[in-house]
Amino acid sequence: MCGIVGGIRRHSNIVDFLTDGLKRLEYRGYDSSGIAVHTPDKIARVRRVGRVQNMQDAATAKGLTGSLGIGHTRWATHGGVTEPNAHPHISGGLIAVVHNGIIENFESEKARLQNLGYEFESQTDTEVIAHSIKHEYMNNGGDLFLAVKQAAQNFHGAYAIAVIAHDNPNEMVVARMGCPLLVAFGDDETFIASDVSAVIAFTRKISYLEDGDIALLNADGIIKMIDKTGQAVNRAVKTSSISLASLELGGYNHFMQKEIYEQPKAISDTAEVFLDGGFDAINFGENAETIFKDIDSIKILACGTSYYSALTAKYWLESIAKIRTDVEIASEYRYRDVIANPKELIITISQSGETLDTMEALKFAQNQGHKYSLSICNVMESALPRASTLVLYTRAGAEIGVASTKAFTTQLVVLFGLAVTLGKLRGFVDEAMEQDFIAQLRHLPNDVQHALNLEPQIVAWASKFAAKPSALFLGRGIHYPIALEGALKLKEITYIHAEAYPAGELKHGPLALVDDNMPVVVIAPNDALLDKVKANMQEVSARGGELFVFTDLDTEFSADDKVHLIRTPRHIGVLSPIVHTVGVQLLSYHCALAKGTDVDKPRNLAKSVTVE
Ligand code: AGP
Repeated sequence: MCGIVGGIRRHSNIVDFLTDGLKRLEYRGYDSSGIAVHTPDKIARVRRVGRVQNMQDAATAKGLTGSLGIGHTRWATHGGVTEPNAHPHISGGLIAVVHNGIIENFESEKARLQNLGYEFESQTDTEVIAHSIKHEYMNNGGDLFLAVKQAAQNFHGAYAIAVIAHDNPNEMVVARMGCPLLVAFGDDETFIASDVSAVIAFTRKISYLEDGDIALLNADGIIKMIDKTGQAVNRAVKTSSISLASLELGGYNHFMQKEIYEQPKAISDTAEVFLDGGFDAINFGENAETIFKDIDSIKILACGTSYYSALTAKYWLESIAKIRTDVEIASEYRYRDVIANPKELIITISQSGETLDTMEALKFAQNQGHKYSLSICNVMESALPRASTLVLYTRAGAEIGVASTKAFTTQLVVLFGLAVTLGKLRGFVDEAMEQDFIAQLRHLPNDVQHALNLEPQIVAWASKFAAKPSALFLGRGIHYPIALEGALKLKEITYIHAEAYPAGELKHGPLALVDDNMPVVVIAPNDALLDKVKANMQEVSARGGELFVFTDLDTEFSADDKVHLIRTPRHIGVLSPIVHTVGVQLLSYHCALAKGTDVDKPRNLAKSVTVE
């Protein structure tokens, strides 16, 4: 969703950093962008609806230069997608602000500021921040740090803000509450951003702000910083290890394509923790063994694709570790009456680590008395792992495509590792079983590579699919969540309506949808439920439906003009859901290519969903 950048250089122009940083934040999803730069005459601003490139072209045409500036990509929440609603917002020509998050009490704040004589040009909640800081700035003798500190006391909600003042050409103030913000340090230059990918081409030295922090910056770095109690504070400076290559396309046409193809490596990097360190509780944190021995059940909270990885994991956790596992959509869990159980481990799963619904669900669980939490996350230092007792990071590398791919399969690797770890601790996994699980995990990157090699057959399917208005996805048991994931991927990037059902549920309603124009994708590996799935497929065939079946060797299906088969080269076993995910990912990708949709930035969606 929204993204923030800002920077101060001692002598040179900051505009190249602002526009480069905003382009690197494009993947998060946005609909307008803007920058504001300090110039001797005024704070000069350029804003445009649409791509950052439009805004950059306009800034170049205007000859915008200056050594202090802020920038923003906006994903509309309060107010439509218009230029006046785009950030930065300026109050009285004096104060310019960019903001991520939502000021929940903006209506009452707006009324208060209007009574004080402030006029509003936009429909955004952010404009109250600009006017409020300007008001405090005037009341506090032009002290920008103090003005932000005073104004922040009026804001209820979540924010990360960066603020500059026209009569202060060398300084910027930033503040964070509930939304990520970092300060990055170069030589004679200081940057701020909401996401590390914006700064990594310029410097790797980074400090992450904590909730409640307010900092005053100049080109030398942080001049002063206070925490939420008002005490002076320093935050550790870390060296980011994110590779620049992971943020760029390389030889690929789309990030989604690149990320699908990166899966063998992402899986092997993520599995390394178990293959080198064994299925040991220590992989999840210092006191994980004590916690794992004390728990009697698990609840997993997540959204979207991460929720489907949770649904898959439930099968492993209950069959391998024999521990009762509930899975809930985070945004539902946090608004119902729950019966808290302090012996239940709360697991949150999130690629970004900053999904607001998941974060709030974790806070809600903690407030209900849940003392144990584990975060499975792909982004170091993000909000969810920081708020959790235990953490194990997926090592997928940066995922830029809005449609999550390698994050999902690596989440499954970690969740499988957790199931085996708990199974060992609880006495359900003996030495022989453990060796078998290790062998399967070792083989997994190869199996995924073989699944990728099936791409030409999937391209042929995609040409049939792309013209269809809707599709059904079926699976049973542990492959049902993979059907759900397949349907979500197709919806997200092709806009084809798709639904997933457990195959046995077909006859209870959705079978009415099946006719010769309804493609039905079936995940049908050679497992204990195969005969049941075959019977469900007969129900489709008998109604003229066209079947597209992902299966394994030796499943004794026969293909005809209404039954299309793609087989993995061997029967996979317990990790089969991971391998069969690749097929549905590639199917969506090639359908999107055939339809000409924007694969990496599908309409209406954002990569990091930081609003409710
Ligand atoms: C996946 O393709 C989606 N873009 C979306 O469902 C995503 O998985 C969801 O928003 C959760 O994100 P998270 O993993 O970053 O928490």
